[in-house]
Amino acid sequence: MTSWLVNQQPGNLTPDRAGPGGTVVVMNLPSDGSPSSVRVGLLGCGHVGAALVALVAERRPEIARRRALDLEVVRIAVRNTAIDRDVPVSGDSFTTDAASVVSDPDVDVIVEVMGGIEPARELVSTALAAGKPVVTANKDLLANHGAELYALAEANGVDLLFEAAVAGAIPIMRPLRESLAGEPINRVMGIVNGTTNFILSRMAADGASYVDALVEAQNLGYAESDPTADVEGYDAGAKVAVIATVAFGAMVVAGDVYHEGISGITQADIELAADLQHCIKLLAVAERTVADDGEPQIGVRVHPTLVPLDHPLASVNGSFNAVFVESAAAGDLMLYGRGAGGRPTASAVLGDLIDASANMARGHGATIGTLEQVRIAPIDDVVSAFYLNIEVDDRPGVLASVATVFGEHGVSIRSMEQEGLGGEARLVFITHGARERDLRATLDELRSLEAVRAVGSVLRVIGD
Ligand code: NDP
Ligand code: HSE
Repeated sequence: MTSWLVNQQPGNLTPDRAGPGGTVVVMNLPSDGSPSSVRVGLLGCGHVGAALVALVAERRPEIARRRALDLEVVRIAVRNTAIDRDVPVSGDSFTTDAASVVSDPDVDVIVEVMGGIEPARELVSTALAAGKPVVTANKDLLANHGAELYALAEANGVDLLFEAAVAGAIPIMRPLRESLAGEPINRVMGIVNGTTNFILSRMAADGASYVDALVEAQNLGYAESDPTADVEGYDAGAKVAVIATVAFGAMVVAGDVYHEGISGITQADIELAADLQHCIKLLAVAERTVADDGEPQIGVRVHPTLVPLDHPLASVNGSFNAVFVESAAAGDLMLYGRGAGGRPTASAVLGDLIDASANMARGHGATIGTLEQVRIAPIDDVVSAFYLNIEVDDRPGVLASVATVFGEHGVSIRSMEQEGLGGEARLVFITHGARERDLRATLDELRSLEAVRAVGSVLRVIGD
């Protein structure tokens, strides 16, 4: 059981003694009405960390006035102290010894924006065990070690807040965790990777090449240090694991997520989608489904998707993100905003920092609640509508033989368009909802038909 001793004397918020499950914190509340001093230890000072230091300095008087909290970044851990960060803190605040920031008795709250799993996991665990609240933007850490970290925060009665880890500046974790806590959520679909949305938008709007658009996204600070994480869907996969955990109260990890990236998407795919009144987006989907044996399961996946132009997600362009929540009582909701970039992300971190500091002053932490073990739906069981294009010989009977293959595998065709290519034709199909395994079997058989020259891109479609 966590207990808090409140000491009504001027001073700082100081964790006094800590231990798993039994943290005791002495909190010195100023008796003169002046703001409580909150000393922040920052782990990482890159795109997000540097923007946070600037934002804290900018907003400090207003936060003190409105929330009675005097935030100050007092220690900063980086890899290389020789780099000039152009941030409003003294050079003495920087260190390469991140552990010393966490253990510093003059640090009340830890902000982790270094990224990666280790040493972030060790540092965050140490801070929580010592009764220090933690704010993190690190989706990889949460998607791989969330369960142990949430439990540690809970046991020590302190906050572990992570609004910035999913969809940058967009408030989505708190709405899912609090406002929609009683809501039966069926599905959450998100454009949650700014880099890939920027690339797809530049390819569609300006005809930019994939490579040029990626370099531009990197220069704008959207991409991860290894952009493979963005373009192959790992970043969105980590985020959808966190979304599913919070939305469904279920322990979902990065390894549960099926993912396909955008590196295979061509200009031709984008143009064909546009002809069909669709655009292509990298969507992250978390949904509740029921298995064939009647047991509930959760599907989590990331893949390029055809989105009808009249769907709200179709208008989300550039580095913007959006999360679309389908729920039983509230109906559909969409939250939209900047999903990447130092300053927008720092804004979400600052919101958490204020919350964690205020909670610390009140002597309690927020809770994520109990997480259930759930069955994860195998991708073969997932039902989607599909877009596919195939090149065939342009002669009598071919269309009938192709349509027969769809029918034999129980895949129903919603629409078909044919385009002449000299002696060949391109057939573009959109199916009704079909199981992945049935669609795959259809494709295998189509490839074996003598009249089929090539099977082009196969993409899932929303809106059916
Ligand atoms: P950067 O690569 O720009 O910055 C990382 C910072 O952490 C650098 O200052 C680096 O030091 C420091 N660092 C890394 N490893 C260590 C270590 N072992 N010891 C001490 N310092 C270390 O990353 P971002 O700011 O872009 O991202 C930070 C986090 O925020 C990540 O988890 C990311 O996924 C997340 N995020 C990022 C968004 C964005 O748009 N950039 C949006 C939402 C979340 P040095 O500078 O010396 O190399
Ligand atoms: N690389 C990530 C993106 C940063 O492009 O969305 C935000 O998490």
